[in-house]
Amino acid sequence: MRVPLKLKRLYSQLQKIFGRNTMLIVTGTYWGDEGKGKVIDLLSKLYKMTIRFSGGAGAGHTLVTPDGKKFIGHLIPCGIAQLTTCVLGRGEFFDLKRFLVELRQAKKVFGDTLPPIWIDRFSPLWTEYHQLLEIWLEFSKKKGKIHTTGKAIGPLAGLKSLRSGLKVRHLFGDHKILRNQLEALYRELKPLFDEMVRLGIVRRKDILLPLHVQQKLLKDAPKIAGYVKDTARGLYDACRAKVRMLFEAAQAPGLDINMGTWPFVSSGHSVAAGAPLGTGLSLKEFKDVVILMVMKALPTRVGAGPFPSEIWDRLMSERFSQQNPKLFKKGRARENFLGSKLALINSDLAKPKDWAQYFQVLGYELGATTGRGRSIGWMDIMWLHYTIRINGPTYFALTRFDMLSGLDKVPVVVGYELDGKRLEIGDMPDTDNLFRVKPIVEMWPCWKDDIYGCANWKDLPYAAKQFVWKLEKIIGVPIVLIGTGPKRDAMIVRTAAKKN
Ligand code: IMP
Repeated sequence: MRVPLKLKRLYSQLQKIFGRNTMLIVTGTYWGDEGKGKVIDLLSKLYKMTIRFSGGAGAGHTLVTPDGKKFIGHLIPCGIAQLTTCVLGRGEFFDLKRFLVELRQAKKVFGDTLPPIWIDRFSPLWTEYHQLLEIWLEFSKKKGKIHTTGKAIGPLAGLKSLRSGLKVRHLFGDHKILRNQLEALYRELKPLFDEMVRLGIVRRKDILLPLHVQQKLLKDAPKIAGYVKDTARGLYDACRAKVRMLFEAAQAPGLDINMGTWPFVSSGHSVAAGAPLGTGLSLKEFKDVVILMVMKALPTRVGAGPFPSEIWDRLMSERFSQQNPKLFKKGRARENFLGSKLALINSDLAKPKDWAQYFQVLGYELGATTGRGRSIGWMDIMWLHYTIRINGPTYFALTRFDMLSGLDKVPVVVGYELDGKRLEIGDMPDTDNLFRVKPIVEMWPCWKDDIYGCANWKDLPYAAKQFVWKLEKIIGVPIVLIGTGPKRDAMIVRTAAKKN
């Protein structure tokens, strides 16, 4: 297929920045949904393999191909569109049913000739029992619900740590072993299932017996037999052959099980250090690595948990998107809404709700997996300093920068106050206190011209360049990519930005 000129130029610019290192790890920055899918889709042109090392079907990485086709990767890495070998690493939880649905969608979007796909033999395997456990856990938490994606990520991780459940390899060995594993899991969870039936949370007939779970799994298992292998071994061999690899984190550091806002997190390693852990490659293999953090110009959060720079309200944001589906589709209603909110904002009369709704609609901020409306926050320098400390980025990609077009100015959180005291830069309070911090806000100038789709640094308005320079100076990490729209080529590459 011919590569359009605009993309050719982008690839050669990217080659200058990323070409010298064989490995790249891409992570988010805040609480996910930051446009990693698009960034990985573009960058994977430079790599032979794309490897997911964490998360599971709850993640949703969206990419749009140059001819306008959209694909949401929940389990399959985003390198699929550029035909890299796609590896579902050991740190990723495997959901057979959902994988097959995704595979069908991938074939619909990219055609029948997909690149090689590897699924790790030792990844934890989703069953109906994990799903039931998640329903029970969310139910029992009452007001402390996590509002998960419903893909049983917590139970998959938790039961793995409790040394229960199944691995992908159980689908292919002795059926007796598979059956034993399922029966053990069923026995362990049965008291909970009985209680769920007693409380009317599920019906008895919805709790499948091990034999039925086994039958369902074995019916689908042959469809993936050709993909399953010891990926840790395969990746080790690929390292020996100096194959260029791109590692794709799920979500973002704010949802990391250790470093995020626990308990309001997902259950995997979303920081860069998750790459060796979630692939089985030793640290030694990563000596030549570049770490790229993807940061949204305006962070978002779905589900529960602290969000210090949040503009409005989580539930109201969710409700707003549910009640106004028309605004999230192209058309007159959307244009009128955006126009009137922007006028309000620039006349200094906007309330937090107006800002939040404006950005939610402008950015089509709906969850890729759940469709939930995402709540919006201001850029948060305190959080940036924290995640830079724990993630060690070489570079940043700033996505959705076009969303600031047309604004006179935008608030940016530059500090937190807790109990009347300003916290030091680099400090991060625990989750309970993070709910209570008061953000300290500064107004940063924006620009009038719409930069949607812009792919040249020199074409940016001067105020937009100043915004980037100022941010770069504060965080001390070069911003080498600037996203200005959902398409692959809507990206500014700054080859002149200095390496960290
Ligand atoms: P879980 O990963 O389904 O257990 O969800 C735990 C928390 O992480 C919930 O607050 C989810 O909303 C959030 N979460 C999980 N995956 C994503 C994602 O891909 N984007 C944004 N939030 C996510």
